[in-house]
Amino acid sequence: MKDFSIQYDQWKPEEQKLREALCTLGNGYIATRGAAEESRNNEFNYPGTYLAGGFNRAKTKVADRDIENEDFVNFPNWLCLNFRQDNGKWFNLEEVKVLNYCQTLEMKEGVLVRDFRLEDEEGRITHIRSRRLVSMRDKHMVGLEWTFTPENWSGKVTFQSALDGTVINDNVERYSDLESQHLHPLQTEKLDNDSMLLQVETKQSKIRMSQAARTRFYHSGNLLDLTSETTEKEGWIDQQFTFSVEEKEQYHIEKIAAIYTSRDRAITESTLEAIKDIERANRFAELLQRHEQAMERLWHRSDIKIFNGSKTQQLLRLHIFHVMQTVSFNTIGLDVGVPSRGIHGEAYRGHIFWDEMYIFPFLNLRFPEITRSLLMYRYHRLDEARYAAKQEGYRGAMFPWQSGSNGREESQVVHLNPDSGNWIPDETHLQRHVNCAIAYNIWNYYLASDDRQFLSFFGAEMFLSIASFWASKAEFSKEKNRYVINGIVGPDEYHTSYPNSDEPGLNNNSYTNVLVSWLLKKGLEILEIIEKSRKRELLQYLKIDEEELQLWKEISEKLYIPYINDDIIEQFEGYHQLKEFPWEEYKEKYEDIQRLDRVLESEGDSPNNYQANKQADVLMLFYLFNEEELQNIFEGMGYQFNAEMISKNIEYYQQRTSHGSTLSRFVFSWILSKYNKTASWENFEALLVSDFEDIQGGTTPEGIHLGAMAGSLNLVQRCYSGLAICDDALWIKPDLPEDIKAIAMRIKYRNHWIGIRIKDEKLLISFEEGWSDKVKIGVIDQLFDFEKGEKRKFSLKAASQ
Ligand code: BGC
Repeated sequence: MKDFSIQYDQWKPEEQKLREALCTLGNGYIATRGAAEESRNNEFNYPGTYLAGGFNRAKTKVADRDIENEDFVNFPNWLCLNFRQDNGKWFNLEEVKVLNYCQTLEMKEGVLVRDFRLEDEEGRITHIRSRRLVSMRDKHMVGLEWTFTPENWSGKVTFQSALDGTVINDNVERYSDLESQHLHPLQTEKLDNDSMLLQVETKQSKIRMSQAARTRFYHSGNLLDLTSETTEKEGWIDQQFTFSVEEKEQYHIEKIAAIYTSRDRAITESTLEAIKDIERANRFAELLQRHEQAMERLWHRSDIKIFNGSKTQQLLRLHIFHVMQTVSFNTIGLDVGVPSRGIHGEAYRGHIFWDEMYIFPFLNLRFPEITRSLLMYRYHRLDEARYAAKQEGYRGAMFPWQSGSNGREESQVVHLNPDSGNWIPDETHLQRHVNCAIAYNIWNYYLASDDRQFLSFFGAEMFLSIASFWASKAEFSKEKNRYVINGIVGPDEYHTSYPNSDEPGLNNNSYTNVLVSWLLKKGLEILEIIEKSRKRELLQYLKIDEEELQLWKEISEKLYIPYINDDIIEQFEGYHQLKEFPWEEYKEKYEDIQRLDRVLESEGDSPNNYQANKQADVLMLFYLFNEEELQNIFEGMGYQFNAEMISKNIEYYQQRTSHGSTLSRFVFSWILSKYNKTASWENFEALLVSDFEDIQGGTTPEGIHLGAMAGSLNLVQRCYSGLAICDDALWIKPDLPEDIKAIAMRIKYRNHWIGIRIKDEKLLISFEEGWSDKVKIGVIDQLFDFEKGEKRKFSLKAASQ
């Protein structure tokens, strides 16, 4: 195992779908799973190609109702390449003797390599080495190369290169009762002896995708002059090339494809663009070189070194890699958000949730340009959010829990429990806290980037619209003499209603109320930061008057927070009255109770009846804010808050959490880092392997968990390095866990590149380059002015004494 690669050295068909997800190559515009070129969708293989923002809606009758889902479309498979000897059977890894197999994800280069030797029934041994890329530099270009060596035979071989538009959405078994045909075949065409075209269109959203592919054969560096046979079927085109190969000779097959869609910018029409690129394309090696240079640039910005040469380093890099496959410079301006499961599979249908809150901190300090673009995805959907708020009788803007193409609510109305086979009403859309996350993200992007133009124009409009929504959602309770927020769901999705109640929603989710208090105040602060003229403009445009601003202040100071015994923040009003959950009994009864909701529903019960959580809820507060910030927020609301409460709350909720979401491990690792280093490290380790080992038993093959992946990076970046932005300075206060001896990374803080190196109780900070000559950096508790080009070393030993 090397730090920059992931290697699988055995052919294990049962693991293939997991490997496919983990070996997905993408460039922030398009991604292709790490499926074998010769495979089709079957028990062990699931080739999938996805387009950022590539959604399609379809209706299905489920449990006697017509439901509509917006799916993340599996677009045509461009990978298809196969061979057969003497008109025999097409090669299939499951039907031959596999002599050696090695599949390597080369993360540095962004290349997937498969190297294997196989022996067929007649004892013919063939060696195939395949390399593949999805170009980071030329976002429409993808390519693969086979090095084909007949080791002990000579004879006639036919190679088939195809574009397969007959694919359906079939990655998630739970969705198999739902409509899965999203593509309408439009066109197939032989372009030339070695190139072909396929065009499809999504049935409802009418996204046209054109793929043009060119397949060429080389021997001893020379292009082979071969005649092909083209076969066209509906949604499928292939070209077959037959020639004789010689024992021990090497043949190179290069398949290069260009992919365009009708949504692309600077195009006339997608087929013409794809054909043009294929005509202009050089050889695979050149494509590879350009791609590798772009990868190098990305790594230069994003690598986090921890120097322990272990699996930890390798997995951190895997996480960085997949963040970059999902969103990259190619994402900028695409009008797409960041899907919680990457563009690696079909789970959660490519939807965008609050997971941005876990992903943006990594991007903010390396690729602020990307965060800006992802925030613009929300901005462009502001009118839809306004409409949603209005429909429910509120002011301002109410963004959806799950967002897709146009920003309407995409959460399912019913979902399938695979354990029981029942379709269950889904009320998770009531997670209005996603609006707090968007506001928090806007503010934190601004803090990290100093992008005043964004804040004053787009950011403020979104922020204030969200504040307006919350101000109209909060109600005054005479009984409590405080403002309350009722009928919502908090981050812990296991609780969506009170026991035996037909009414969905809960009252006073503390996490949400605290964030609303914070954001209403921050909204007022933002109005003071932006230009006066812009403030006037916005208030008038958004119809926010002085009276409303006064109300924001009042609500923010008087929101109700339920408590249990003065020091435990109650998750929501009434949580404490729920029954305790018999954890031990269930741990004995079931092998895995991470998804307790499914287990209980199968028994005719519900987590709504218990103090049993899927994930961190109240505890999220300790991740988002530091002690001092929380003290200010709570005291501002007239509540007591002290440091001791943090550990008490952690203890209380830790015993009541099943970690049914990978996000939970991250939050626990973070909040425990100060109080229980061993437990924190255990959670960090679980987080690191959560996708690599598919700890949820089957979810990773349906897409990686990007929030958890980026969360692990954030832990190293913010938690262990103690990085924070406050009082107009970047603060660094390292607190490394036992198992991490050193950290080195570069961050982009307000247009300045800062190098940070922590090793042997020493901290080296270098102000590498930037727009201004000075930058304020605080170390532990002392503030310094750094000059451009300046490097300084600090002893952490002295500081910690
Ligand atoms: C979690 C949510 C998360 C979603 C998408 C769910 O399982 O409970 O908090 O946003 O997955 O990652």
